[in-house]
Amino acid sequence: MADHDVLVVGAGLAGMRAAIAAHRAGANVAMMSKVHPVRSHSNAAQGGINAAMRGAEDSIDSHVYDTVKGSDYLGDQDAIEFMCAEAPQEIINLEHMGVIFNRDEEGRLGTRAFGGASYARTFFVADITGQAILHVMYEQILKAGVRSYEEWFVTDLIVEDGECRGVVAIEMLTGKLHQVTAKAVVLASGGVGRAFEPSTNALICTGDGIALAYRAGATLLDMEMVQYHPTTLAGNGILLSEAARGEGAYLLNSKGERFMDGYAPNMRELASRDVVSRAEATEIEEGRGVDGCVFLDVRHLGAEAIRTKLKYIYEAALDYAGIDMITEPVPIRPGQHYIMGGVKTDPQTRTWDPDGAWKGPRGLFAAGEVACVSVHGGNRLGANSLLETVVFGKVAGEMASAHAKEQPDTPVSGAHLADAEARIQALFGRPDNGERTAKLRLDMGNAMNEHLAVFRNEEGMRSALGTVHGLQERYEELPVVHKGGVYNTDLIFHLELGYMLECAETICEGGLLRKESRGAHYRRDMTERDDTAWLKHTTANVGEDGRPVMGSLPVTVTKWEPQKRVY
Ligand code: FUM
Repeated sequence: MADHDVLVVGAGLAGMRAAIAAHRAGANVAMMSKVHPVRSHSNAAQGGINAAMRGAEDSIDSHVYDTVKGSDYLGDQDAIEFMCAEAPQEIINLEHMGVIFNRDEEGRLGTRAFGGASYARTFFVADITGQAILHVMYEQILKAGVRSYEEWFVTDLIVEDGECRGVVAIEMLTGKLHQVTAKAVVLASGGVGRAFEPSTNALICTGDGIALAYRAGATLLDMEMVQYHPTTLAGNGILLSEAARGEGAYLLNSKGERFMDGYAPNMRELASRDVVSRAEATEIEEGRGVDGCVFLDVRHLGAEAIRTKLKYIYEAALDYAGIDMITEPVPIRPGQHYIMGGVKTDPQTRTWDPDGAWKGPRGLFAAGEVACVSVHGGNRLGANSLLETVVFGKVAGEMASAHAKEQPDTPVSGAHLADAEARIQALFGRPDNGERTAKLRLDMGNAMNEHLAVFRNEEGMRSALGTVHGLQERYEELPVVHKGGVYNTDLIFHLELGYMLECAETICEGGLLRKESRGAHYRRDMTERDDTAWLKHTTANVGEDGRPVMGSLPVTVTKWEPQKRVY
């Protein structure tokens, strides 16, 4: 008998929302995560969550249009329409769960402006929105009594007869491998930001779910679409939330000019992230930066607003850069922040297509950053990621429960566990050739940040791909030096590196395939968007030789025809 009806891999917001929905649908659901749920990366989503629910001032259609435009017309419009329509009810659901959103002077839920949005439709909890929601969601998980495999690391998805039937995972406390079976599996394990160095992402964002699904035959979509956030702190890349610009912060160059006037005269600092990041990079390249940075200036907002609405970033700038934002502008630059691509799903969060246009194992669902529905296309709008996690997390939990109900209780072979054990023993048996995981990881991160960042070209992306291939060869000999069972982080980091390298390879291949500039994928050798040839998604499936086989899929356009994108 399967251990669970539904197993959710990942316990951030998408994972917990999926688990709550599955529990409410009557399923025996469990969550599995390599960290404690409240240490998930959703913690880091600071600025807020979007929904059009301020009556006549805003509309669902406006939210849809802004998201489609923000995506540079690469987002699938049926999925975007669904997400934006569900948004208001999800905000109310979160409020009812106990999230204490900031309120306005009249006592209504308050909003702030965010990039690329025509209206101030971002609901928020100071600049710790993700953290606030995460903790409330965890309370709901405890209340529901959902089983949580905390600090378990997934090594394999179990796929038999084309059906996903569970996972093999390391219990990190003991080092013991287990097979945990389920009639449906939901991937909610986040993105792969740490394939880049630096990144705003937590060290745990290593593309585990993306690579696991890819290895299991699922299709990856638009992996080349990587978001650089405009305001990351000089030196260490810590995120300084877009909430600052939402509250009215300026971006200044070395001459003290608000340079966004020249790049996005209407929206200025609140243009979409790809546009603002390119503007900053241009200012820096053309000599109007200081030490590789431009400046975020909040001084005019006043001490009270800074200390209350921007408390976290105020402390981050003080602690990590020694800068008091009340009296000084803070040096910032664009930094890797988010992956728009991921495991291809339909709006029902299925990774497989019953009509056969794309591939994935039946019974495997995905939601959140691991997935590509695609609601973000070429560029995600700030505060649409928290929205995506809760809207599609809920769908995934409901769909996975319904799927599980239809499945017979099929016994699962023990061979998956035996295979994983043999692979790990083989890793322990590798001779120490002096190579270290951290070094390979840094080389990968630097190459990706150099060539797959705000500006790209053929030569650079080929160079990064060559670096990744070279690292993959070295990875085949890379030893695990520490052989113990208890919290063997040397082993975990090794396995994570394997996942990241596979994701990095598909990011480079996607970038080379897409012969145009769109959203975050800006090629200096092909600067125009080409809707005739490239209004389509890139796909990657693992080939027999382990290398990606690239292809494409059409973009779903409902009523929003591509237009010139200006802010
Ligand atoms: O800037 C931020 O607060 C980030 C939010 C997001 O990525 O959605």
